[in-house]
Amino acid sequence: MHLKYHILTLGCQKNEYDSQVIAGLIASAGYTEPAEIENADLIVLNTCCIRNKADVKVYGRLGQYADLKLQNPNLIIVVAGCLAQKDGKRLLSRFRHVNLVIGTRNLELLPHYLEETARTGKRRFLCDMKDMNFEHLPVLRDSSCCAWIPISEGCDCHCTYCIVPFVRGTMVSRTPENILDDVREFVSSGGLEITLLGQNVNAYGKDNPAFGNFASLLTAINGIEGLKRIRFTSPHPANFGEDFIRTMASLDKVCEHVHLPLQSGDDLVLRRMGRNYTTQDFKSIVEMLRKYIPGIAITTDIIVGFPGETAAQFENTLSFIKEIRLDGAFMFAYSEREGTAAVKMKDSVPHNDRMERLNLLIKVQNEITMSKHVSAEGSVVEVLPETVSRKNSDFLTGKTRTRAVVNFAGLPEMVGKMTNVKLLKGYTWGFMGEGVK
Ligand code: 5AD
Ligand code: SF4
Repeated sequence: MHLKYHILTLGCQKNEYDSQVIAGLIASAGYTEPAEIENADLIVLNTCCIRNKADVKVYGRLGQYADLKLQNPNLIIVVAGCLAQKDGKRLLSRFRHVNLVIGTRNLELLPHYLEETARTGKRRFLCDMKDMNFEHLPVLRDSSCCAWIPISEGCDCHCTYCIVPFVRGTMVSRTPENILDDVREFVSSGGLEITLLGQNVNAYGKDNPAFGNFASLLTAINGIEGLKRIRFTSPHPANFGEDFIRTMASLDKVCEHVHLPLQSGDDLVLRRMGRNYTTQDFKSIVEMLRKYIPGIAITTDIIVGFPGETAAQFENTLSFIKEIRLDGAFMFAYSEREGTAAVKMKDSVPHNDRMERLNLLIKVQNEITMSKHVSAEGSVVEVLPETVSRKNSDFLTGKTRTRAVVNFAGLPEMVGKMTNVKLLKGYTWGFMGEGVK
């Protein structure tokens, strides 16, 4: 029997990958037909809880699902991911129409409990923060050219604002053999580009020196024939030394892009965030990256309104951003996360000030991004088209090696084929281009 399912993914790339695992797992319980939410027999909401906004989104969605359950009493609703891990039982008691709440380290149990729920109607929450065997879980990829490859689970950093270690546990690296097997298997099915995933991706192997380190892993993966592009996200600046940058520069498949979260451009704020580097350290990484890897794009994450951040400290972030001129940034207003160290810090920044700072920072960074994109107009770059554009089916959407988004006119059969594209016009989101012979 082919049952219909709908998976909605919120949050980061790791969650997108986990949703591919979820799709693989539920297939064994008969859910093999993707469907619109209204027609589904099973809805899985794969959640994020990085900021309060993410929580609110999930709670809002779940409220809406009550109606769907009224229309179809046999509908099974599962909440998975980080918010499921954080709020577990609370979700089950607040939303009577939710059947299963399954945390980040319990995914492998999903098929078993789905069957039980379908048979008996039992409602459960499975949110143990235990060791889980992440190997050999089925993955249903949604692209044949690009894949996420997790190299570690969890995070041992103690950034004082961050909930991730609480909901994803301590760091466990996968064995290099298992990672290489995954990449080889993907490449043998025609895959061209991989993105290595870890909450602190360059801390790879610190929990088990027999695995080598991130540089040795990248080097081994670079040797896989047929693979064209290697990306990784997200590294921590504290482990990002000159040796590593040299290795990166020497590996032809490693793309010319790094997403390196800065978080603040003020040294005192960085210290209170528990980040273990200074703005000077960050600046020298940026300089080395630009020296060893000409043309590299560097993007970042920044939080404004961290507890105690003064107007002058925010100004430091603004001037640092103007000084180092990164290619792009995700920018956020600080959000209190229960259980983290920052929640107990005094001098909370009023909400309005956070928003004002955020808007100012976005304006400054967007101008920098825009001017960089405009200056790239006219150049010809290699693009890997990933999909037909959602807005206009005559266009394809792909990425450059520097991870800029490029839209250009092309036929659907060009998806997954490296194409040279001339960048015609730059925007803050990326480029409009045209294919060149
Ligand atoms: N408030 C705001 N932003 C946060 N991030 C992580 N935790 C918080 C928080 N409590 C941001 C960081 C991180 C990105 C994924 O989300 O910038 O790099
Ligand atoms: Fe959200 Fe962090 Fe979980 Fe990713 S790991 S889904 S960003 S809370």
